[in-house]
Amino acid sequence: MDLIPAPLSVTRPETGEFALDAGTPLTAEPGLEGVEFWLRAALGAATGLPLRPGPGGIELRLDGSLAPEEYRLSVGADGARLAAGAPAGAFRAAQTLRQLLGPDAYRRAPVRRTGWALPYVEIADAPRFGWRGALLDVSRHFLPKADVLRFLDLIAAHKLNVLHLHLTDDQGWRIEIERYPRLTEVASWRDRSMVGFRDAQRHDERPHGGFYTQDDLREIVAYADARHITVVPEIDLPGHSQAAISAYPELGNTDVVDTAELSVWTDWGVSANILNPSEQTLRFYEGVLEEVLAIFPSEFVHLGGDECPKDQWRASPAVQARIKELGLADEDELQSWFIRHFDRWLADRGRRLIGWDEILEGGLAPGAAVSSWRGYEGGVAAAKAGHDVVMCPEQHVYLDHRQGPGEDEPIPVGFVRSLEDVYRFEPVPPELSALDDDGAAAARVIGTQANLWTEFADDARDVDFRTFPRLAAFAEVAWSDLPRDPAARDWADFERRMTTHYARLDALGVEYRPADGPLPWQRRPGVLGRPKEGPGNL
Ligand code: ACM
Repeated sequence: MDLIPAPLSVTRPETGEFALDAGTPLTAEPGLEGVEFWLRAALGAATGLPLRPGPGGIELRLDGSLAPEEYRLSVGADGARLAAGAPAGAFRAAQTLRQLLGPDAYRRAPVRRTGWALPYVEIADAPRFGWRGALLDVSRHFLPKADVLRFLDLIAAHKLNVLHLHLTDDQGWRIEIERYPRLTEVASWRDRSMVGFRDAQRHDERPHGGFYTQDDLREIVAYADARHITVVPEIDLPGHSQAAISAYPELGNTDVVDTAELSVWTDWGVSANILNPSEQTLRFYEGVLEEVLAIFPSEFVHLGGDECPKDQWRASPAVQARIKELGLADEDELQSWFIRHFDRWLADRGRRLIGWDEILEGGLAPGAAVSSWRGYEGGVAAAKAGHDVVMCPEQHVYLDHRQGPGEDEPIPVGFVRSLEDVYRFEPVPPELSALDDDGAAAARVIGTQANLWTEFADDARDVDFRTFPRLAAFAEVAWSDLPRDPAARDWADFERRMTTHYARLDALGVEYRPADGPLPWQRRPGVLGRPKEGPGNL
């Protein structure tokens, strides 16, 4: 059956198959209509079978003794029975059911109409982590809405449940904000783009842009919701803000740079142009966030907080006066004050702030959560201090990093993170799991996330190449009850199951990196990357 991610338990008390045909019914109890709708649409498209409503055949039901994402799937002579604690669990069960039907069940139209069968099986399953995320950076390169919807289908097929959308950065602003039209008129496109790593200083001469209207984003949120995925929007501040400043120059440090001359950045890297900390800037971003909250119902809102060079703040008389006025010690405390302001603002509206681990510097707002990206350290410190943590260390789960050591990797940046390396990634480091606090600090690791930054992935094909197959290994890390010791994981078994999984990805039309290296058209000969050495595993 080669299930990925591996369920908690799979037993086969009897051998046999339950055949599906034009008379096989599909039914769900009240509360599971959405899952029933999805399953009939997905399986119906692939098999051509009508799966008419009615008892027998495939039945979905709720079972109050199970946790929300926990499920049981049983196939026998009388059909398939799916039981879950909540609709989310029923949806995960439905994804498992699709895997049981074989790779062709992933197609959007039938290549055959007969031979569909489910093996007799008893599956009991539940996720290890509540936050199983993937980040898509749609700022550096815009990903059209249709590709985002497809990406949601792909992560849903891997039982992930969070899409972190990185919507704003120096190189582009991608969300329509009705009260600030210049964010899309001006900040959503740039004249040209850097090609490859910045050391080469090479650019194309092709404008790049795009943005999602508020209705596009509502559609994305609803599409995700039907797949029991939460979309967490990211509005990065006070750094990574050059695009916004180019549209509204008053947001920048106007006493040290002529921000009216700025445009959306056409280079990769970390821009020195950061927000000023005035009351007007706070009001501006409160206005942005009011519209963000109206679109995204997620508990968490990501406000970035990473990589904020403080040179302009140090040089700016206005900022220095502001630091004094606020009674702060220095620029780090100013950044902390900035983040705390929005932490309170979000909390007052029933939401929670999450930010990159830099938000720990200068003191973390109570209630805020941390995405630990510069390694485990930030996450460990935050968890020990009682904050929730999503582990996404760049040394392990940055999908922009190269997948192999060879010359053929396209624009090779970062560490070598092969499929096996990702399979052996452990989100809870030993220093947390070994703490003698009854596991309270380790339990603060609410989940893990794989992050795809797109400086070097300029379209959906590149996104596929960098994301897959590694997201399959990541999904198993996030969902399955793997040995906590990475060395004890059964890589050979995973690799064997991947043979079937590659066929599923093929049926889905995913242009993953083949195990033996990039195909000729997946290479980018002559485009400079910047490989890094190391790191070892845990
Ligand atoms: C990051 O990679 N700057 C979060």
